[in-house]
Amino acid sequence: MIRKLEESDLAGAMALVRSVGWNQTEQDWRHIFELEPEGALALEDGGRVACTTTTVCYGRELAWIGMVLTLPECRGRGYARRLMREALAWVERRGIAWTKLDATDMGHHLYESLGFRDEQPVERWKRAPAGGDFRAPELEFGMDAELDRQAFGADRARLLEFFRRFEAASVPDGGFAMGRPGNAAAYFGPCVCRRPEAARVLLEWFLARHFGEPVYWDILPSNREALRLAEEYGFEKQRVLMRMGRPSPGAARPIENNDALVFGLAGFEYG
Ligand SMILES: CC(C)(COP(=O)(O)OP(=O)(O)OC[C@H]1O[C@@H](n2cnc3c(N)ncnc32)[C@H](O)[C@@H]1OP(=O)(O)O)[C@@H](O)C(=O)NCCC(=O)NCCS
Repeated sequence: MIRKLEESDLAGAMALVRSVGWNQTEQDWRHIFELEPEGALALEDGGRVACTTTTVCYGRELAWIGMVLTLPECRGRGYARRLMREALAWVERRGIAWTKLDATDMGHHLYESLGFRDEQPVERWKRAPAGGDFRAPELEFGMDAELDRQAFGADRARLLEFFRRFEAASVPDGGFAMGRPGNAAAYFGPCVCRRPEAARVLLEWFLARHFGEPVYWDILPSNREALRLAEEYGFEKQRVLMRMGRPSPGAARPIENNDALVFGLAGFEYG
């Protein structure tokens, strides 16, 4: 049975996250429920949540699919395909032009068969708990939705309003960064900057606050400056996923974004 995934499913949703060792917390699922109450789906098998998908919408321009997870013992039964079809039908009913996602190797064939095409790789970098003489300046946060729109290509203002509740900082005229806790590591991102020097200040701000914790940072390798910073600050590449996009029938033109401004993703489940 396919139905909405809800707050009462948190235990089942977390069992799925644990089955693959991902970084999401209960709070992350709650965010998705709050941000897009109709967008999270569950496929139930024998009274438990066997498979999930989440869809977060950025206006009428873009929907982002994430948390495509099937319990290991329930895989190969067509559950993820059924939920993905349902999610895509929901996106098309809402008149949203494009759907994107960050695909693992395990999910890639499924998405390709549903009309998604490769755009570019995305990488997870990790910094082991370590010291470092970083300054933790008191940085104010100022929302720069226009900069984010240029970088991402769609209106993520609602998502940013969510994330700023955790940790957020800006460099005046330079850019902004946010962070949030995770199961396995503190998460640095999104980070959107006009200049690498601003990204450096924001990275040091975050690392100083998470002294002694592992940190995840998701990067577009097409942004060479972001890669250089990751290497310089002792991050190591952990995983590579593929960003994929799919136009809805009648979608006019591709999303225009600017990767040179993207110093950190919001998360594989958000873009
Ligand atoms: C990717 C995943 C969600 C697929 O879930 P699923 O319910 O098993 O998928 P389905 O049964 O609908 O099958 C979809 C495709 O997955 C692949 N697949 C499914 N079971 C497989 C198996 N046992 N061996 C190899 N490929 C398999 C096939 O390519 C299949 O396509 P096909 O129907 O043309 O053969 C699941 O493997 C999973 O949770 N993996 C770990 C988390 C992950 O990587 N999620 C994707 C995030 S982008």
